[in-house]
Amino acid sequence: MNIQALLSEKVSQAMIAVGAPADCEPMVRQSARVQFGDYQANGIMAVAKKLGQQPRQLAEQVVQHLALDGIASKVEIAGPGFINIFLAPEWLAQQAESALASPRLDVTPVEAQTIVIDYSAPNVAKEMHVGHVRSTIIGDAAARTLEFLGHNVIRANHVGDWGTQFGMLIAYLEKQQREHHEAIALADLEAFYREAKKTYDEDEAFAERARGYVVKLQGGDEYCRTMWKKLVDITMTQNQTVYDRLNVTLTRKDVMGESLYNDMLPGIVADLKAKGLAVESEGATVVFLDEFKNKEGEPMGVIIQKKDGGYLYTTTDIACAKYRYEQLHADRVLYYIDSRQHQHLMQAWTIVRKAGYVPESVPLEHHMFGMMLGKDGRPFKTRSGGTIKLSDLLDEAVERATALVAEKNPDMDADELCKLANIVGIGAVKYADLSKSRTTDYIFDWDNMLAFEGNTAPYMQYAYTRVLSVFRKAGIDETAPLAGKIQLSDAREAQLAARLLQFEETITQVARDGTPHVMCAYLYDLAGLFSGFYEHCPILSAEDEAVRQSRLKLALLTARTLKQGLDTLGIETVERM
Ligand code: ARG
Repeated sequence: MNIQALLSEKVSQAMIAVGAPADCEPMVRQSARVQFGDYQANGIMAVAKKLGQQPRQLAEQVVQHLALDGIASKVEIAGPGFINIFLAPEWLAQQAESALASPRLDVTPVEAQTIVIDYSAPNVAKEMHVGHVRSTIIGDAAARTLEFLGHNVIRANHVGDWGTQFGMLIAYLEKQQREHHEAIALADLEAFYREAKKTYDEDEAFAERARGYVVKLQGGDEYCRTMWKKLVDITMTQNQTVYDRLNVTLTRKDVMGESLYNDMLPGIVADLKAKGLAVESEGATVVFLDEFKNKEGEPMGVIIQKKDGGYLYTTTDIACAKYRYEQLHADRVLYYIDSRQHQHLMQAWTIVRKAGYVPESVPLEHHMFGMMLGKDGRPFKTRSGGTIKLSDLLDEAVERATALVAEKNPDMDADELCKLANIVGIGAVKYADLSKSRTTDYIFDWDNMLAFEGNTAPYMQYAYTRVLSVFRKAGIDETAPLAGKIQLSDAREAQLAARLLQFEETITQVARDGTPHVMCAYLYDLAGLFSGFYEHCPILSAEDEAVRQSRLKLALLTARTLKQGLDTLGIETVERM
């Protein structure tokens, strides 16, 4: 049930009935305060202005035509012409009843789209670092959310698996294999890369060989391909361990690296030239874009092929967008990449649109995010100034969580403790990221994210176990259907029910904007409302059996909603903690 959509429909019908244009905006929003009802329609003023009418008078006419019988218990006009809608408890009870009866909380099925999500995208022969963590975590929440709604989600892990550095890496891998006479594990990718670079800079013969390998690799030489593939495999095997630890849904089959688009590049350059979009300039092939100006105020030149014939990151992203539309049949493409790459994407997509590779009807969306900062407000680094490895970060999270849960549960056995610490620790890192608006930088702070109070994973996970404990205490199996009917006699019950029924409009917003923090804020608020309800409306000790059943049902719907919401975020729950 999407209450906002339902009310919007009703209000706009009433507006049209009194002379508003067919495309009028009812602007129905959740009310900020209880005294303004559950929802407010704020669109009257703008329409009154257009029609040259007095807004309050228009509001009165709209209210007369508003068909909310059985849905609203009261409709009021406030201020200059706001319409406040108070939902009827009986109606809310009915809706809550059907949400509880439905395995997907009664969320309306969507018209399924094919949605490609570009996220994580680490680089080969480099360890994943904190810079990839936001893309991985937020992108995965988007994938889970859209999948829950019924879309066909294609996860595209655009790994950096191509470029001139591979000549050097192949030459170094070869050297290592020769010296160690065994298949090396590449345990420390960071060191491997560093050493390769050092050898390249110091050893001219090595550098020569490396340059030769670049050309050979690009020419499809079998030996170089095999060595290259080895590097990709080792890297992705290590990254998969991190994905699994993070409870991220990416697998090996989602890898669609830069190399996938190689064969398309010559054709793209030729086509852009034929279309008159690309021109030769100082030996390179360039697209000049009026939409972007350089420092001199002239159209910016975007290089798509270098003088030496090499292609660029932009050329690949042009091909990649084309591929996602033509081959993957994307209806929509989301890119979770940090905000510093915004200009790069805009240039690539401007060219994509001009060349007609992806029609305007298929949105290409940059869901950008800011940086992860340390407590000092500077880029998050190790004490010595190096980049922090993601695996080290996760180790620390679990270590800290272990101390925390052990203190709270002195009697818990070691196995359960270990499992719980993992869920809490990893959940904390993920939730801290997900709960902040993604467009801004965010401060990574262990104490905040592991706190049991506030909008944190431990708090949310704990809130869930608290709801479940009601059933445990009563010895009721929460998976079996409950008898009785939901009845909302207390204002707190009605408020909780209304909030529970806002799950669909929340998830719809997250799906549209790719903003998981909106889901976090909703769940946090829901947990707070449940607390208030729990304190003031006795569940198990309710005198009347019908009231007891009704409250149990509300508690159950709360548990399911919290769990489902956290699940779309990729945050695990436990039964007790
Ligand atoms: N591998 C790149 C990096 O680490 C991110 C790739 C993002 N995706 C894309 N289609 N450009 O910066």
